[in-house]
Amino acid sequence: MVRQLSTAWGLSVLAACAQAAANYPPIPGDKSTPVQQRIAVSGPSSISVGWNTFEQVANPCVEYGTAADRLVYTACGSSVTYASSRTYSNAASLNNLKPATRYYYKIVSTNSTVEHFMSPRLPGDTTPFQMNVVIDLGVYGEDGFTIDMDMTKRDTIPFIDPSLNHTTIKRLADTIDDYEFIIHPGDLGYADDWIYNAENILDSKDAYEAILEEFYGQLAPISSRKPYQASPGNHEATCEEVPYTWWICPDGQKNFTDFMNRFGRTMPSAFGSVSANSSAKVQANTAKQLANPPFWYSFEYGMAHVVMINTETDFTDAPSTASGDSHLGAGPFGAAGQQLAFLEADLASVDRNVTPWVIVGGHRPWYSTGGSDNICIPCQNAFEPLFYKYGVDVGIFGHVHNSQRFLPVNNSIADPAGLNNPKAPMYMVAGGPGNVEGLSAVGKNYTTNVFAYADDFSYAAVTFQDRNHLKVDFFQSSTGKLLDTSVLYKAHKDQFVLQK
Ligand SMILES: *[C@@H]1O[C@H](CO)[C@@H](O)[C@H](O)[C@H]1NC(C)=O
Ligand SMILES: *[C@@H]1O[C@H](CO)[C@@H](O)[C@H](O)[C@H]1NC(C)=O
Ligand SMILES: *[C@@H]1O[C@H](CO)[C@@H](O)[C@H](O)[C@H]1NC(C)=O
Ligand SMILES: *[C@@H]1O[C@H](CO)[C@@H](O)[C@H](O)[C@H]1NC(C)=O
Ligand SMILES: *[C@@H]1O[C@H](CO)[C@@H](O)[C@H](O)[C@H]1NC(C)=O
Ligand SMILES: *[C@@H]1O[C@H](CO)[C@@H](O)[C@H](O)[C@H]1NC(C)=O
Repeated sequence: MVRQLSTAWGLSVLAACAQAAANYPPIPGDKSTPVQQRIAVSGPSSISVGWNTFEQVANPCVEYGTAADRLVYTACGSSVTYASSRTYSNAASLNNLKPATRYYYKIVSTNSTVEHFMSPRLPGDTTPFQMNVVIDLGVYGEDGFTIDMDMTKRDTIPFIDPSLNHTTIKRLADTIDDYEFIIHPGDLGYADDWIYNAENILDSKDAYEAILEEFYGQLAPISSRKPYQASPGNHEATCEEVPYTWWICPDGQKNFTDFMNRFGRTMPSAFGSVSANSSAKVQANTAKQLANPPFWYSFEYGMAHVVMINTETDFTDAPSTASGDSHLGAGPFGAAGQQLAFLEADLASVDRNVTPWVIVGGHRPWYSTGGSDNICIPCQNAFEPLFYKYGVDVGIFGHVHNSQRFLPVNNSIADPAGLNNPKAPMYMVAGGPGNVEGLSAVGKNYTTNVFAYADDFSYAAVTFQDRNHLKVDFFQSSTGKLLDTSVLYKAHKDQFVLQK
């Protein structure tokens, strides 16, 4: 979302100009030290490892194995950077993993430690599991959100390990054994909101990079252990959000550059189908060719087929393009029609006997209690008909900074079945985990909405209970209190869903 700056901010600019400097984290003495570690599901038996370093690594490698003292395998990748970045982004893919097994890994460096992860569940594994959802998360600390959301008090927070004090990141750390992976559909660190800290004003190019370094450092305790699946939001697009001005941004801070460098080699494309149906295999193969990670892609995990879409560019009137509503000058990233052709082939390929649940995550919603200002009609026009046609079970969005749950709905009409085997997708907004712009009021438009919460920071968890039951929970981040819970029942009788 976009927010107005306060008068208090204006006054603090005057005070800050004398001491302007970006809040870069310290550069380690050993420049091979891995920072900002993140892993992702990158294939049915693959985990990718991404990390940054303050030097280019000639041969970036990860050693791994199923015992901490026997890291018998090695995977290597590439080390890249872009104009305006202080760091190199490294990536390697760990393939041929045994399913749902604990692996230990060590990024090869003269200063690194052994971490661990659980490898992905195979498509069709019916073991229940929980997937957490954060959207619009944002950096914590001087450049980010504060616990009381009072921007003038930003500098009064005592120094503590920031990665464990962001209310939502702390909760994700405290409950790390409860969930198996995280999806984050857009608005990641809020680097383009550097202006909210008045001290950044004379050094905005460095401030943008410093926020990225801070945010991914804060996230690392979580993302180095749990797969973190990211997709784009408007805050990844350019160096600031003022419409029509992207062209003044420094090289490297336009057109989703950091997002692409950081996640382009580590997000999956789409999985080959394990269905016995040959047309499903052909569709899955088509989807794989049309996928464009990290912008749009899919993966399968146990009972779930998860698709991540790009609500910013690459469809008619997409908002983050030069001519779109936000005028951020980004994209396109694929050929004309490629993203929607991907989505259609991908959804058509899903064999519900293998992965009964189909979830789509994207950034901008088309159902929100906030009214017409923060819903994306071009997104609805592009995506909603495909969601209905192929029986998407749940649509997960953010952009609006609060938590909301809707009835299953299509074309703004609630499905008469409610949560009892509806044909229309159930929608949710999970945009409340905390960022420098603060929470958004829940608004007045309650059409088809059943839960809305903006009193404090919150996040969501989706539990795949069995082939027919999926639980959606919203939690208050600071206390872990359960705010809302619901169970969606789907019969999932058709092997391939095709609805008129
Ligand atoms: C080694 O890594 C640790 C943890 O990331 C860091 O705090 C320390 O500064 C590094 N040491 C050197 C010599 O770079
Ligand atoms: C953050 O850390 C400070 C200092 O340790 C503590 O007083 C505060 O309660 C913490 N906040 C949260 C949300 O954990
Ligand atoms: C394979 O799946 C398609 C839908 O994608 C369906 O029309 C066709 O009947 C299926 N074939 C078999 C042999 O089940
Ligand atoms: C953004 O990047 C993509 C991929 O590199 C490129 O095809 C596109 O032309 C770029 N858009 C702009 C406005 O530079
Ligand atoms: C309220 O939301 C519905 C969709 O649920 C939308 O069609 C309608 O335009 C919205 N009304 C206002 C006043 O924003
Ligand atoms: C579902 O919504 C789309 C608009 O997004 C509409 O074109 C279509 O007719 C609706 N389908 C049904 C069955 O109501």
